[in-house]
Amino acid sequence: MIYSLEYFALFAAIISFVSFHIWRINRNLPIPNLPLLGMIPSILFNVSNIHEYATTALKHYGGTFKVRGPLFTNINFLITSDPMNLHHVTSKNFVNYGKGSEFHEIFDILGDGIFNSDSQKWKYQRNLLQSLFKQNIFENFVRKVIHKKLDGFLLPLLNEVSESRNVMDLQDIFQRFTFDSICSIVLAFDPNCLPNKLTQFPEVAAEKAFNKTEDAILYRHLVPRWFWKLQRWLRIGHEKDSIACQQILDKFLRDRISSSQEEKSRFNYTKDDESNFDMLKALVEKSGMEQVDHKFLRDTAINLLAAGRDTINSTFCWFFWLVSTHPNVETKILGEIKANFKTNEENWFISGMEDLDKLIYLHGAICEALRLFPPVPFEHKCAIKSDILPSGDRVDANTMVLYSIYSMGRMEQIWGNDCLEFKPERWISEKGMNIQVPSYKFMAFNAGPRSCLGKNISFIQLKIIAIALLWNFEFQVVEGHSVCPSVSIILHMKHGLQVRVTKRSN
Ligand code: HEM
Repeated sequence: MIYSLEYFALFAAIISFVSFHIWRINRNLPIPNLPLLGMIPSILFNVSNIHEYATTALKHYGGTFKVRGPLFTNINFLITSDPMNLHHVTSKNFVNYGKGSEFHEIFDILGDGIFNSDSQKWKYQRNLLQSLFKQNIFENFVRKVIHKKLDGFLLPLLNEVSESRNVMDLQDIFQRFTFDSICSIVLAFDPNCLPNKLTQFPEVAAEKAFNKTEDAILYRHLVPRWFWKLQRWLRIGHEKDSIACQQILDKFLRDRISSSQEEKSRFNYTKDDESNFDMLKALVEKSGMEQVDHKFLRDTAINLLAAGRDTINSTFCWFFWLVSTHPNVETKILGEIKANFKTNEENWFISGMEDLDKLIYLHGAICEALRLFPPVPFEHKCAIKSDILPSGDRVDANTMVLYSIYSMGRMEQIWGNDCLEFKPERWISEKGMNIQVPSYKFMAFNAGPRSCLGKNISFIQLKIIAIALLWNFEFQVVEGHSVCPSVSIILHMKHGLQVRVTKRSN
């Protein structure tokens, strides 16, 4: 009995000593690395505030650190916000970093589209889309779609809001607006999610399915691979929803692709007339397909819908929130509009590319919103062979490199001590021109050979809408409304953006 008490005391002393030692090592670390469990418990504990948490940790570790998972799991990846590392991964040693098989599985909804492909498959699609996006007819078509949607729907709706109850969720409105416009651009079909009357808000199944699919993708990032695969096999939980959403989206796309092909004989796509532009037809023509490849068109379409919907919506929300909470910035944007356009009261319509290029301050304000709140807050790539990053960190073959674009916008080393401030002036040179920041520092559109193909049309859309809305209306965030990022693969606002809308008297 006495012996067992002694053994127990010895055992307790060892446990206390080891615990004290672990506590001493971890007490100053932002992400404690626990024996057996690694860093995962503290990451999960802070998941609701994950972007700020990652930023604090990255600052603590000088911009790069390894995330250790529980023992006997293969959770081991490297996270970085170091611009030199990102220049290396996205450009200098581009050939060594692909999306990897895990990405392909997690984003299976995207099929073999450009986001989900590597090597030759990716290169083929990149060249095809690039040649399509750089045509004037495409840019003019995008402008036409946006003007039509603004004139016919968004402006009348905001007018009604300003005349009646005058409070609304701008995030919901923008989400509907961007879904309608990206479907019009990619599928030549407007699902009409955004009504022009307050009493007629329709539930469009495909739009809802898109939102739910995003949740399912986030979930797959948070649980072990075998777990969500088992759920999919059993058709339960998030995976049950994901299967149902995939079916809805597949039917939506199948119908659009078939009708586009049926209409093919009715009118021909003429190269110099944007009123007849149809991206699906242009894709068939450019790719030189002998027979229409439905899977290829489906995969391309869903990738473009995913690329151009939530990214634009997220930018709008953060931009309007930042502008409405910084009256000095709003005044300067309005002054710039007045100085550059014939603002004949109700008439906000702008034509010609040069006109938008004149708006140096507005351009800076949009870049600033994208710097502080990048729509894609995290990205990951997978190393094919082992490598050493410029920071000196080793990356083993098949290891994931995760980069936090959100954290990069909050690094003093990149943006200076005022990095947390919303300052469009940061983007303007002494000569009054927009400053070009290298893409490996301003990563909102990614960098290197896989940088965003929609950057140009995004700025066009964002500027046209910002001008139309700010010139015609004032937006005031409802008192007490809490604004913070949601936990999702796109940086949405967790509680939406409740604003009071009033008509502006210019
Ligand atoms: C503010 C708006 C946008 C932002 C912030 C943005 C951001 C990004 C980012 C971060 C990537 C890299 C994704 C990855 O490698 O996983 C990307 C790629 C891409 N984006 Fe955008 N995007 C925007 C709008 C658009 C629009 C409107 C389109 C066209 C409809 C578009 C088309 C693409 C395409 C095709 C790629 C794939 C490039 C490749 O893998 O080679 N984007 N974008």
